[in-house]
Amino acid sequence: TPVAILLSGRGSNATALIEAAQDSAFPARICLVLSNKPDAPGLDMARKAGLPTLAIDHRTFGKDREAHERAIHAALVEAGAQAVCLAGYMRLLTPYLTNAWAGRMLNIHPSLLPSFPGLHTHERALEAGVRLHGCTVHLVTEGMDEGPILGQAAVPVLPNDTADELAARVLQQEHRLYPLALQHFLTQNPATAANGAALLVA
Ligand code: GRF
Repeated sequence: TPVAILLSGRGSNATALIEAAQDSAFPARICLVLSNKPDAPGLDMARKAGLPTLAIDHRTFGKDREAHERAIHAALVEAGAQAVCLAGYMRLLTPYLTNAWAGRMLNIHPSLLPSFPGLHTHERALEAGVRLHGCTVHLVTEGMDEGPILGQAAVPVLPNDTADELAARVLQQEHRLYPLALQHFLTQNPATAANGAALLVA
């Protein structure tokens, strides 16, 4: 299945997806890596991996978020994408793009949703004193970090953890979870994928 990746930065989750897709037994083939930031390190990484890449800079669209998303959508369609993985894509999406890709757009979020949607999840997990933290792959809907959960991986919060240490522990699991959740999603019956068995990586 042709799958596109949207990113804005470092691209370590994109790397994990790209590496998984290098195995011919993996059900996804990465058909495009697209960034809203032309200088994103993740875009460079994808280029070096020999993949088609594209930068669509949101700044050239001024305040018109939908115009930016129309350009993204056209590029995704042009690339033949059947599904889209957000991997550190740091712009809020409007209903235009979430509707266009409803049921076919995945995101990875660095918390055990529905706890800690939004930013600074690791700091907030430490503040809340939770003993388990982790990451979630979910379908993207209009509400931020709110769609049906496809998979989760949990890590312990250790005494004296800093936010950086906790983030690194979660990130390791993100890199395991995202390829697994994508594989699970693509090989499930699409009619039941959203409410069927979620993947748990302990
Ligand atoms: C990850 O923590 C991901 O969960 C969040 O943004 C970060 C992106 O990191 N959505 P990377 O660009 O994949 O390295």
